[in-house]
Amino acid sequence: MEKITVPNIRARKGKEKLTMLTAYDYIFAEIIDNAGIDMILVGDSVGTTMLGYKNTIPVTVEEMIHHTKPVSRAAKKALVVIDMPFMSYQEGIEQAKRNAGRMIKESGAETVKLEGGAKMKDVIKAIVDIDIPVMGHIGLTPQSVHALGGYKVQKEMDRLINDAKAVEEAGAFAIVLECVPRDISKIITEELSIPTIGIGAGPDCDGQVLVIYDLLGLMGAFRPKFVKRYMDLRTDIESGIKRYIDEVKNGIFPDDTHSFH
Ligand code: KIV
Repeated sequence: MEKITVPNIRARKGKEKLTMLTAYDYIFAEIIDNAGIDMILVGDSVGTTMLGYKNTIPVTVEEMIHHTKPVSRAAKKALVVIDMPFMSYQEGIEQAKRNAGRMIKESGAETVKLEGGAKMKDVIKAIVDIDIPVMGHIGLTPQSVHALGGYKVQKEMDRLINDAKAVEEAGAFAIVLECVPRDISKIITEELSIPTIGIGAGPDCDGQVLVIYDLLGLMGAFRPKFVKRYMDLRTDIESGIKRYIDEVKNGIFPDDTHSFH
């Protein structure tokens, strides 16, 4: 099985839709990889999914590396993207290069992703210049949740187009558009030569990304409009666990077939 590469992802723009899902552990990464996904993102959404934080802000470089190592071991084909967490690149070029280098070296991921448009142009360029491929991320950037005043759709067309172009000019190989009106995503997708990967950004992007737990219906009450639940695993898991509890309490499990003689 051949590994998907950065040039391969770039070359598929306009030819074939790209797919990306998040994973934070070996088993899920193995299942996602076997299913034929193009890219696995170890997102800093690990903070709100696996680690129980209120938002992505507390996530550390160490936590990202810890969760990416098993994903890299499992991904035989998919390109692995690791998110740079809040304050691991915002201090400036030297800090950003040091952390990007460490994250690639220690996690086994092939590329990093970081949030921000024009303001991050020099940082993206510096990381690309040391041969670490960068995926950009604009629109709703969750690490800026306090500055943005919440998780809102981003509608300023000029700023979004300017940000997208800055990320491309800096040398990013692809860009995530999060919570961007579909008409604006369409314009950005047409104007850029690198693939756009949408989440809440409509059907005209070059590819799509979702948080795996959202797709599987594992998350609780929070259901963003852009999430399509392909399964309702939370209900299935709960009912399996309840049956187990019931059977143990009533002496039904283990029965003879599950016992040694
Ligand atoms: O952290 C994450 O999972 C992400 C995706 C939602 C794009 O950045």
